[in-house]
Amino acid sequence: MKFKIQIITCVIIIFFQIGCSNKKDGHKIITNFKTPLGLENLKQYIPNDNQLTNEKISLGRNLYFDKRLSIDGTISCSFCHNPLLGFSDGRYFASGVFGLKSKRNTTTLLNRIFAQENFWDGRAKSIEDVIYEHIEDQNIFANKLDNVVKILKEDKNYIRKFNKVFDSDITGDDIVKAIASFTRTLVTGDSPYDKYIAGDKNTLSQSAQNGLKLFMSDRLKCSVCHSGPNFSDEKYHNNGTKLNIENPDLGRYLISKNDEDKGKFRTPTLRDIGRTTPYMHDGSIKGLHALVEFYNKGGEPNIYKSSLIKPLHLTEKEKLDLFNFLRSLTGTNVYFFGNR
Ligand code: HEC
Ligand code: HEC
Repeated sequence: MKFKIQIITCVIIIFFQIGCSNKKDGHKIITNFKTPLGLENLKQYIPNDNQLTNEKISLGRNLYFDKRLSIDGTISCSFCHNPLLGFSDGRYFASGVFGLKSKRNTTTLLNRIFAQENFWDGRAKSIEDVIYEHIEDQNIFANKLDNVVKILKEDKNYIRKFNKVFDSDITGDDIVKAIASFTRTLVTGDSPYDKYIAGDKNTLSQSAQNGLKLFMSDRLKCSVCHSGPNFSDEKYHNNGTKLNIENPDLGRYLISKNDEDKGKFRTPTLRDIGRTTPYMHDGSIKGLHALVEFYNKGGEPNIYKSSLIKPLHLTEKEKLDLFNFLRSLTGTNVYFFGNR
């Protein structure tokens, strides 16, 4: 099945025919990355044991859109990480096979190349680890990796492609490696904000510029946690998202078992934030206006909330400024999905 996507999102899929070291066909490791404006050099983030090649990325892309990953053949990665929705799904909670609800909101896959740990609570070290877990997660694909291998082996195209990329028969580990490689190429930068920082003062309205100042200010403290080129410190915080409810999601605490980690979640990137509503690990905030209101009131009370989150007393104009700044973080570059 052909998957056709119109050029409407603003992601750059790194797609590099240049700078390949010379090995034999299917194994040319990509060494020269075109990093979008505003991001850190991508190269250092490619794991040694899963280098990128064009053929591997292309195979990973096929698998990403392949419903045979799920036990009943109904959903692929893109069902939840939809390219048209900033690689998220617009739902409060993810919905897997048989309509089973996940306990969490689907994260964006953009800029996961910079990930230090994955999932809202950081329980997976690498993107590869995420995929192993996802395939067997009852609320996602509810499958077995061995079963996926068996089914893909019935497809001559896949047999040929795996052979070319990995010099071997289809294996579970290689399926995971190929999909993880494709995921690493989902990169967004080069937003109006990045162009503004690079010197083009026309790309941000006066309101968005005011919003940028507010965002970086000691008064709002947004940039303490949403820091660096990807707007995330990759650490865990309790920002006052619903904890005072029955059976709350305890977040990082579930992994660390430290009381102080109750209700902490990994700081999400803010890039392409205009595309990935609803927000937070539980999808409890819909739209950026509501998001600004949430922070303005200092989140919701709970005893573990970060001391950085306090009522902000923003004027209506300041709220709009912050809103406009957040919207300027959406990439504006050509969305290039490569050819299939
Ligand atoms: C049924 C919906 C669903 C499908 C299908 C799905 N995911 Fe996810 N994905 C999620 C949810 C929900 C989370 C967050 C879970 C959590 O944090 O506990 C997530 C998290 C991730 C993360 C971690 C991102 C981060 O910010 O930490 C990656 C990477 C990822 N998925 C990749 C994939 C890939 C690749 C596929 C296909 C092999 C896939 N997902 C299929 C729902 C889905
Ligand atoms: C103490 C650290 C911290 C501070 C300060 C902070 N945030 Fe956050 N932010 C987080 C965490 C952690 C989450 C995810 C919380 C959750 O899912 O429960 C988050 C979520 C968000 C989201 C939703 C992202 C998504 O993909 O769901 C946006 C947008 C956001 N913050 C913007 C801001 C703005 C604007 C400010 C300043 C007014 C701010 N943040 C201040 C840590 C922080």
